[in-house]
Amino acid sequence: MRIVLVGPPGAGKGTQAAYLAENLSIPHVSTGDLFRANIGQGTALGKQAQEYMNAGELVPDEVTIGMAKDRLDQPDAAEGFLLDGFPRNLAQAEALDQILAERGAHLDGVLDLEIPEDQVVQRIAGRRTCRTDSAHTFHVDHKRPQVAGRCDECGGELYQRADDSEETVRKRLEVYHRETEPIIGFYQAKGLVVTISAMGRVAEVTERAMDALRTKAA
Ligand code: AP5
Ligand code: MG
Repeated sequence: MRIVLVGPPGAGKGTQAAYLAENLSIPHVSTGDLFRANIGQGTALGKQAQEYMNAGELVPDEVTIGMAKDRLDQPDAAEGFLLDGFPRNLAQAEALDQILAERGAHLDGVLDLEIPEDQVVQRIAGRRTCRTDSAHTFHVDHKRPQVAGRCDECGGELYQRADDSEETVRKRLEVYHRETEPIIGFYQAKGLVVTISAMGRVAEVTERAMDALRTKAA
């Protein structure tokens, strides 16, 4: 399956993507995680991305689209993938269409996670992220690590993302409404969108998402 996950910052895209990718045996491809890995390794791409990310702005398309294409060209993504955080504007959505068309492939669904804005702020304020792999995330109330300050998956140090301050979250939300929400209409016109509530326990949301994707694929 080829799926795009869309939703505001803090909706739980990364959290859900980890479970959905495992259930569906497809790779979880997060452009945010790819950028953070590059920043951690001090690459030129990481240096280009960092100031935009810290400001809550989108990294320019010429950087982002090339990175996403390279990742989707890896053999593990040949038969399917779960995209988290890409595409994030109409130009990226069109670029993804082209990447898929070149391979004779198409998207199977776009899963849209809906959540009230006050919940987003609460989820992000309590998030703790693993420094070794930013796909591993925890929450001070809802998903506590077994050992305080350490990642359950790899033992990495947990920290608060620089872009998780309340001011930057407000900026990211503004960018989401302006740049990213229009892609929902773009995909609705293609009949691809299923919208689910991202409220409730993590496992409940996963179940809702799996049901929605099964219905979409049927
Ligand atoms: P990115 O890393 O994609 O950030 P985001 O979209 O802002 O989303 P988040 O990762 O903040 O939230 P999430 O929905 O994954 O929530 P999570 O599962 O962690 O992008 C960061 C930046 O990179 C961008 O601002 C931009 O600069 C750049 N970038 C990335 N992609 C780009 C692109 N395509 N183009 C241009 N620039 C790009 O959950 C949040 C918290 O809630 C966690 O603590 C979690 O444990 C908790 N939680 C999750 N589910 C539940 C639940 N059901 N109940 C209670 N708590 C929950
Ligand atoms: Mg995320």
